[in-house]
Amino acid sequence: MENLSKGIDTSAENASGTKRSCAISGEEALALLKKYNQDEFHLRHAFTVEKVMRYFAEQLGYGDEADYWAMVGLLHDIDFEQYPDEHCRKAPELLREAGVGEDMIYSICSHGYGICSDLEPVHEMEKVLFAVDELTGLVWSAALMRPSKSTKDMEVKSLKKKFKDKRFAAGCSREVIAQGAERLGWELDDLFEKTILAMRACEDEIEI
Ligand SMILES: [Fe+2]
Repeated sequence: MENLSKGIDTSAENASGTKRSCAISGEEALALLKKYNQDEFHLRHAFTVEKVMRYFAEQLGYGDEADYWAMVGLLHDIDFEQYPDEHCRKAPELLREAGVGEDMIYSICSHGYGICSDLEPVHEMEKVLFAVDELTGLVWSAALMRPSKSTKDMEVKSLKKKFKDKRFAAGCSREVIAQGAERLGWELDDLFEKTILAMRACEDEIEI
């Protein structure tokens, strides 16, 4: 694989640094997202991952870094709509230009590890992002098939069926989801349950 991390600070200190702070404000991050994303599906995905990341930060004991986790979620696919063939490779330029810090750029690009990035998820936050990115897509597709069109009455059992049916939401990589659970050291069922709970908690807050 070519060197995809060119220009990004990949030092261990940065990758596993402790206290992280957002270099730009929430309003600036939202404006940045909207500058490069107009598609409703993409915006919903960004807002979902933003809120799911905030939920996990709080659940996993990183409450003081919840804004950081949320912003990583919001901006993780910043380049996908306009530069799908350069996903995770165009992002550093767009983010840097807007004043996003190098540690956040690393975190964002690590969600494409093994696919379009050679930056490995190191911090627990990066591992959560890697695991929930594809999974939130699968959960939402499954929710839309339900009479309720909601995650609120979704059980792990029914999500497992959708996970096993490779034709359903075929674009959501089962391999990445399974690898995500493994990186976190969580059972797949556990990841499913936590992610359904996270999405239930934030579903009503998402407005496009
Ligand atoms: Fe994503």
